[in-house]
Amino acid sequence: MKIAIAYYSQHHGNTKKLLDAINVTDDVKLINVVECKEADLSDYDVIGFASGIYFGKFSDKVIQFAKSNLPSDKQVFLINTYGVKGNYTKEMQKIIAEKSCQLLGIYGCRGFDTFGPFKLVGGIAKEHPDENDVNGAIEFFRKIIEDEKQVYS
Ligand SMILES: Cc1cc2nc3c(=O)[nH]c(=O)nc-3n(C[C@H](O)[C@H](O)[C@H](O)COP(=O)(O)O)c2cc1C
Repeated sequence: MKIAIAYYSQHHGNTKKLLDAINVTDDVKLINVVECKEADLSDYDVIGFASGIYFGKFSDKVIQFAKSNLPSDKQVFLINTYGVKGNYTKEMQKIIAEKSCQLLGIYGCRGFDTFGPFKLVGGIAKEHPDENDVNGAIEFFRKIIEDEKQVYS
């Protein structure tokens, strides 16, 4: 099964930390949307989008990447890190639905945030993603892959 994850992780590398943990054990194609704007994803069975949350949603770069490159009828999952817990995936879910893709799951956790006024207090969610957050991401990813393997077997 071929898996790709397109990501944006520019604030503190919080989201990338989760992806690196996932990628230690599984062979996943990681696409940094800062460096890569166009990619042919038609060969991939499962496609993930991962981002820090910027102004209440996934990075515009990930949103744009998904709009231009996500083929229709794909299996998709989302990973996000944020300063304050919330539901930030609405716009991505809309794109996924418009492309007749199936959303397999969403994983989110807090990530060190020094944006704006938070910088004055040394940031919030300082230790995050922590070990629990990282293990949660690995577990989330494993479950998605296991479920998909059953579909393909
Ligand atoms: C410009 C900017 C805007 C942000 N907006 C939000 C927000 O709306 N909600 C939130 O919970 N966190 C917000 N954050 C915090 C980030 O989502 C959080 O630190 C995230 O873990 C960053 O991920 P990254 O290090 O992978 O880029 C913002 C951070 C920056 C720099």
